[in-house]
Amino acid sequence: MGTGWNFCVPQVCSGLSFCYTQPVVRAIRARTDTFELMKEPRVFVVCATRSFDEQAGSFDQRAGLPASIPDSVAKELVGLAQLGPSDVVLEVGVGTGQIGLALCQRPLCYVGFDASATMLDVFKRRSRETERPVWLIHADGNNRWPADDGSVKAVFSSRAVHLLRVEHVVDEVFRVALPTGATLVMGRLQREKQSLRARLRQEMRERLRQLGYASREGQQKEREILDACVRRGAAPLERLVVATWPVQHSAAEVLASWREKSGLAGLDVPTEVKETVLSQLAVWAKDAFGSLEAVQSAEETYVLDGVRLPSKS
Ligand SMILES: C[S@@+](CC[C@H](N)C(=O)[O-])C[C@H]1O[C@@H](n2cnc3c(N)ncnc32)[C@H](O)[C@@H]1O
Repeated sequence: MGTGWNFCVPQVCSGLSFCYTQPVVRAIRARTDTFELMKEPRVFVVCATRSFDEQAGSFDQRAGLPASIPDSVAKELVGLAQLGPSDVVLEVGVGTGQIGLALCQRPLCYVGFDASATMLDVFKRRSRETERPVWLIHADGNNRWPADDGSVKAVFSSRAVHLLRVEHVVDEVFRVALPTGATLVMGRLQREKQSLRARLRQEMRERLRQLGYASREGQQKEREILDACVRRGAAPLERLVVATWPVQHSAAEVLASWREKSGLAGLDVPTEVKETVLSQLAVWAKDAFGSLEAVQSAEETYVLDGVRLPSKS
């Protein structure tokens, strides 16, 4: 059996090749052949990947972060994980590389992976903006991660790790963590509970639930990951608020963006179910907000949560 991932952008910058320490080289050569695909997530990953493949071209426009956020996240991550030039950062679910690119600009060894080749293609194009080395790997996070045992100083994931199986994430984080200790940091958007978008999302989940499609909030999955790490000896880090910014949304705009991507709430629901839920939501939103076009202001916040893994000695 061949390796489970392809190298998408092995950029070797002359004069910078010293950045590739042995752990990185080993990390990107890690093999998958002893690993079996897990049954439950396998089905889900096919759906999740298809969804992200389809939305890669419009992802930044629909769900991208404000331009100043990626650099702030990278700066905070370097501080939180105390990263130096030879330390490996493994990013899970890199997407179009908004944050990945900012991380690459820092003096560290960046390795990122994603299950969607199309999202990686966008990152690949974006990475032309930097002369720093960028290692991108096409790999499914529900399989063995592309890093050797004990090779990674920081595992980072923004808005992605909740899409994976909790126990597998925890096992992989502990497997790849440096024996001297490592940090897991997860970034996500936090919305005001009463914001138009949050209320619409809550209604959507409720309607999906009524139709037999239960989905867990990303935040809940992240909490489960953190708790499981703590049970294995990790120390929780205090939540860090990276930035808060104003947003304005109308229900029409939010519903249109959900219509554009496949599935709903990360679930691969049949088209007719999706249409039913979106139509019901349009009726509900008209009543709740006065009109589908009514614009409401709110604030969004990007936060980092994490744990420090103990040394293995
Ligand atoms: C919401 S996007 C977040 C992208 C980026 N981290 C950000 O914050 O902008 C989630 C990403 O996770 C990736 N993903 C989903 N399931 C995955 C899996 N099983 N393994 C690896 N990546 C996965 C998707 O392809 C997508 O690029």
